[in-house]
Amino acid sequence: MHNSLSAATSGSALPRTDAIVELSDVRFSWAGNGQPTVEIDAFQVQAAERVFVQGPSGSGKSTLLSLLSGVITPQRGSIRVLMQDMRALDSAERDRFRADHIGIIFQMFNLIPYLSVVENVTLPCGFSARRRARALRNAVSVEAEAVRLLNDLDMGEPGLLRRPVTELSVGQQQRVAAARALIGAPALIIADEPTSSLDADRRVAFLELLFRECAREQTALIFVSHDASLENRFDRAIEFAAINRALGGPPVLRAA
Ligand SMILES: Nc1ncnc2c1ncn2[C@@H]1O[C@H](COP(=O)(O)OP(=O)(O)O)[C@@H](O)[C@H]1O
Ligand SMILES: [Mg+2]
Repeated sequence: MHNSLSAATSGSALPRTDAIVELSDVRFSWAGNGQPTVEIDAFQVQAAERVFVQGPSGSGKSTLLSLLSGVITPQRGSIRVLMQDMRALDSAERDRFRADHIGIIFQMFNLIPYLSVVENVTLPCGFSARRRARALRNAVSVEAEAVRLLNDLDMGEPGLLRRPVTELSVGQQQRVAAARALIGAPALIIADEPTSSLDADRRVAFLELLFRECAREQTALIFVSHDASLENRFDRAIEFAAINRALGGPPVLRAA
């Protein structure tokens, strides 16, 4: 099942001009933790590419996504997203950059419990004028664009749209989280184990919906998971231990 993991394509590829994400010589340690959690010589993602990153729990996948989205900054090395060197931005600028260009699907979804389904989806348009303007290319209002996305994700039933998110099933919450990440067409979506609480059929169905929406806007997708069963559906699958030297080398952790 792991044969298609192609680590060789990740670390050694020459820089390409259309790389949307480019890590070079990155090293990150959490404060108080002597050992680095992430140590990556080179990693690139191309525009519109769908990349699967697989690694066991605790291997630093969420830390990598926090680095990519500028929530945290590396002690060493450079991270470029959409040609922007994240080192050149202060923390407020990184927040703005993230709101404008990156849609995030969190492991626990992080929906706002006191907002309805539609209000949760339109949230990024309140933080980013760019996302708002891009949402309005497709629809007369951001609410209408939220409904279009929810429809595409099989969540368009009128009864569902105004419902508090706390009353939704896990699968429904996940689709709301996906619509929120997709609204306003950010160039990059990062997804942190969003399918881990779903059964196998629903995982595949969710992924198909996510791919369809990413393809519409040529959105790149970085999807991390401890579960290798979805890897064949992606353009490229990477074993995290093969690019993250902090894990002490690929073969050791493979059995986890
Ligand atoms: N906010 C944090 N503060 C300190 N250490 C952290 C923090 N988040 C993660 N870690 C540590 O970093 C390591 C990798 O965690 P994480 O990136 O969450 O892995 P994964 O997502 O692959 O399960 C773990 O040892 C974890 O304890
Ligand atoms: Mg994690």
